[in-house]
Amino acid sequence: MRQGKTRSSPDDRSADPDGRFGFQEDRFALRDDVRLQCDGTSVALTSPVSTFTLRGVGPGVIAALRRLAAGSVPFTEVTRGLAAGERARFDMVLGRIGHLLVHGVALNGRELLRVEHTARDASYEVADLTGLSGSTGLSGLPADSLLRLSRFAFCRSRADTLVLESPLCKVRMLLVTPGARELVAALGSASAPGELRVDGLSPAEITCLLGHLVGAGFVEVGGPGASGAAFPEDADPVLRQWDFHDLLFHSRIRTGRDDAPVGGVFPHLGELDPQPAVKPLPQGPVVPLHRPSLEEIAARDPVLTAAVEGRRSLREYGESPPTAEQLGEFLYRTGRVRVHFEPGPGEQPGGEIVGRPYPNGGSAYELELYLTVRRCAGLDPGIYYYDPVGHQLILVNTDAGDRQAMLTVAALSAGLTTDPDVLITMTSRFQRMSWKYSGIAYATTLRHTGVLYQTMYLVAAAMRLAPCGLGIGNADLAARVLGLDYLRESSVGDFILGSRPDADPGIWDAAQGWNYVNDAEWAAWAGSRLNRRADGS
Ligand SMILES: Cc1cc2nc3c(=O)[nH]c(=O)nc-3n(C[C@H](O)[C@H](O)[C@H](O)COP(=O)(O)O)c2cc1C
Repeated sequence: MRQGKTRSSPDDRSADPDGRFGFQEDRFALRDDVRLQCDGTSVALTSPVSTFTLRGVGPGVIAALRRLAAGSVPFTEVTRGLAAGERARFDMVLGRIGHLLVHGVALNGRELLRVEHTARDASYEVADLTGLSGSTGLSGLPADSLLRLSRFAFCRSRADTLVLESPLCKVRMLLVTPGARELVAALGSASAPGELRVDGLSPAEITCLLGHLVGAGFVEVGGPGASGAAFPEDADPVLRQWDFHDLLFHSRIRTGRDDAPVGGVFPHLGELDPQPAVKPLPQGPVVPLHRPSLEEIAARDPVLTAAVEGRRSLREYGESPPTAEQLGEFLYRTGRVRVHFEPGPGEQPGGEIVGRPYPNGGSAYELELYLTVRRCAGLDPGIYYYDPVGHQLILVNTDAGDRQAMLTVAALSAGLTTDPDVLITMTSRFQRMSWKYSGIAYATTLRHTGVLYQTMYLVAAAMRLAPCGLGIGNADLAARVLGLDYLRESSVGDFILGSRPDADPGIWDAAQGWNYVNDAEWAAWAGSRLNRRADGS
């Protein structure tokens, strides 16, 4: 496909001298969420994520910036009256504030679309599709070309405007006109460009819009394939292995290609109350738990290296069930609250934090534990909430069908032949995180889940229990069974636990094809420390 030379930024004005792509009619403004402050020769442009400061700025450049701040103006209007030196300075400034501008794409005096850069290094070449939808045939593409929205593109309402975004693109299209909205909708399925008709849009306007949509990467150019339309994304071995939601998530939880605030920015401070560090207890019968003795544990625990090196995921259980005493010790060592900090009067709200045995970003400790108990000596089957402060269980559900439903999901996830002795469901009190963190609240919760998994693995190994973390759980089922509001608190992780099998499965079995790499004796040593048969021993 031939690419036009026109760029999406105003710093390449010479590329379209005859206005062929309508570029010279394009309009620019500061984004709605950017504020311009001028103080003498100093200028500050403040966006929700940063402030861009300029010093020693001349009056001409300040006047041009004020024109951008006043609203959408043609580029020629922005630079009107700038002396040569000021123009050079202004061009330099523009090169650095592209992400603070909104670019209105216009043709014949009519605005069709607005474009915002979501990354500082964003730019794209407008695809040259002239003649594409006109009667004179295609000039930029093969005759049988097809166009379709990228699988990663999506529309949503943002700041009261329908926008088109994609984790593959560093720009956002603001679909401010009915024609642009209709065209994007039509591109949901593969379309021959010459057949694209949109009420109220001329062929030239369709071509102009498509040039931006294709150039920026929202729309793919393909053609007929062996079985239906074929597009590059469908054949790309890397993109094929990205789920839409995974790539979007990845693009939003790391900085670089999106312009939303990321980090501990307290987005709801002063407007919404933070969630408490400790969840208010649910109603239900209380079951006190065994409180382990530090001396006993210190005397009997294997050394850390034995737990790290000998830890395995075990999916079979012993004939005897785990005991309530073991469960009490396990929960105490992995999940209890061990310190509490309350900020003083007048200090920032949301500062109440706790500490538990595993590390946690911001000490938020938003994860809660629920136990679905099938088999545990000294504890009735049931579904319990773990109170991490009182170190006790609270029975929240006694329905055998609900219990079985939870255990069945876990058993399927681990390919078990029998249900696990105990299923530990980890839930997140989401607003505990998102009150403080923007962009990364959910990602951080998932990281916490992983941290807790490993803590549980190590403690289970030390206690000679059978642990296994799970990758799949049913959050809707869990919310219903645990009596939770899915949006406030629902499951983010699952961990199954049981007694160790009497016939020990051993470490890695060479007969099953495992080859030891890097010091095989470590596994044998750890296995023997954990009373487990090591391969070959
Ligand atoms: C986040 C995570 C998800 C997992 N999901 C599953 C799962 O759904 N089913 C399962 O049987 N094992 C699951 N496992 C266990 C892994 O299969 C296991 O850790 C891996 O095979 C390595 O074996 P090892 O733990 O015995 O060293 C999971 C482990 C982790 C850490």
